Amino acid sequence: MSLTSATPATGSSAPAAGPTATEEIVVLDFGGQYSQLIARRVRECGVFSELLPHHVGAAEVARRRPKGVILSGGPASVYAEGAPKLDKELLALGVPVLGICYGMQLLVLELGGRVEGAEVGEFGRSRLTVREHGRLLAGTPDEQTCWMSHRDTVFAPPRGYEALAASTASPVAAFESVERGVYGIQFHPEVVHTPYGNQVLTNFLEDICGCERTWSAASVIEDQIERIRAQVGDGHAICGLSGGVDSSVAALLVHRAIGDRLTCVFVDHGLMRKNEGQQVISAFRDHFKVPLVAVDAEERFLSRLAGVIEPEEKRKRIGAEFIRVFEEEAARLEDVSFLVQGTLYSDVIESGGGTGTATIKSHHNVGGLPEDLEFSLVEPLRALFKDEVRAVGAELGLPERLVWRQPFPGPGLAIRIVGGEATREKLETLREADAILQEEIRAAGLYRELWQSFCVLPDIRTVGVQGDERTYANVIVIRAVTSDDAMTADWARLPYDLLEQIASRITGEIRAVGRVVLDITSKPPGTIEWE
Ligand code: XMP
Repeated sequence: MSLTSATPATGSSAPAAGPTATEEIVVLDFGGQYSQLIARRVRECGVFSELLPHHVGAAEVARRRPKGVILSGGPASVYAEGAPKLDKELLALGVPVLGICYGMQLLVLELGGRVEGAEVGEFGRSRLTVREHGRLLAGTPDEQTCWMSHRDTVFAPPRGYEALAASTASPVAAFESVERGVYGIQFHPEVVHTPYGNQVLTNFLEDICGCERTWSAASVIEDQIERIRAQVGDGHAICGLSGGVDSSVAALLVHRAIGDRLTCVFVDHGLMRKNEGQQVISAFRDHFKVPLVAVDAEERFLSRLAGVIEPEEKRKRIGAEFIRVFEEEAARLEDVSFLVQGTLYSDVIESGGGTGTATIKSHHNVGGLPEDLEFSLVEPLRALFKDEVRAVGAELGLPERLVWRQPFPGPGLAIRIVGGEATREKLETLREADAILQEEIRAAGLYRELWQSFCVLPDIRTVGVQGDERTYANVIVIRAVTSDDAMTADWARLPYDLLEQIASRITGEIRAVGRVVLDITSKPPGTIEWE
């Protein structure tokens, strides 16, 4: 197998594969922290939605034939030098436009209303008083709470446009012109702190844009199956399974589309959690009957890790070995020209769709293959957010354990042995402790509420006493966090009784462990993993 240029299934400027391709709302991202959330909320309302950078221009938007356009919030002042501008052609597309926060201010500025920097900004909960409901605020109360985050303020709507509402610090907090199809709100309808936000979005989507609201994650399946068939034709595909939900769902979709012309490769590097390798094998090979090559490569990985303490070096070696094993397996298969990857919509946005929001992703995924593989990429999840992938997985019958599996780093348990070598013995200790933690967290019904929960094994020993004996044993750290996207995280307030149960089981059942501690650091300043 020679290794050159991969062709993505969907180029970054092509629509992200709207499932029915009939109804779409384009959200233009001006860099606001809630931009992705707007797109997700629109989808939750049953309308496919794409987030595009604000600079793509009206022609690119028009190519999607959207039913409406939403302009997101953003961190800039409309008067700041270099602040993103509005492409006026958007207003000539003949579809309704809704500006949110910065998006509204841009509309007002462009259309001749009055926007000014105010003495005080308005951040957090605010009181909204509705004077006229118009179409946008129909069905919401005269007085309501809303969530604000702005300094520039609209003092007067453009001439001929109607001011609908005011808030504590915003003389014009909503305006519209039904005739011109232009709508604006200063507040954020997409956040849960705006109780009628959903109603406002629904008004825009259904009443104003005339959307039918038929999109659902499940409706993606049929559409993707067709697309995959069209792309792969009678070719053969290969997919690396990691045990995570993304590669599992991608593989299942492709299997539905092309059957046994898909071969999955699962490389067990011996750094997985307890029983996880077996779960993947039994789900795919035994239950779904997907052709599966399972490679037990524990020895190879452990020998590559011998003597390695430095985490980046561990990552590098594991990554390189992974590629080697995968390539060896791929070379055994004949006629494979497609590679299936579980790329998600958030990856697509982060790797080029972004617009200056400072997102730094520190994933060095071991499942990541070299960029020069001579395969065409099949990426059936490119249009989906994580929660939508889970919904598709559930719909496809993926076992609950796989659908809801918490994220797990590609280099696995090796990077959770901190300051020391990942030996078989230490991995065993960590794996057992981790299994107890997971079991107790699941039993307490908290597993899905946590972004991640795991154990860390620092390479130190501390003194203890068990029975009449003094011990000198390992320390296990419990790390459990809540998060939306791993960019920031808060340490989870696990109940004391649960912590006690976990600690006493770990020290009681694992001889090598004499002490259990809890990590109470958020991110920032900490990271989620220890290495
Ligand atoms: P940190 O530790 O940077 O982690 O707060 C953020 C998210 O990334 C995961 N992570 C990794 N994933 N390979 C991966 O595939 C890695 O080397 C790696 N390091 C961290 C981490 O589990 C968390 O979800």
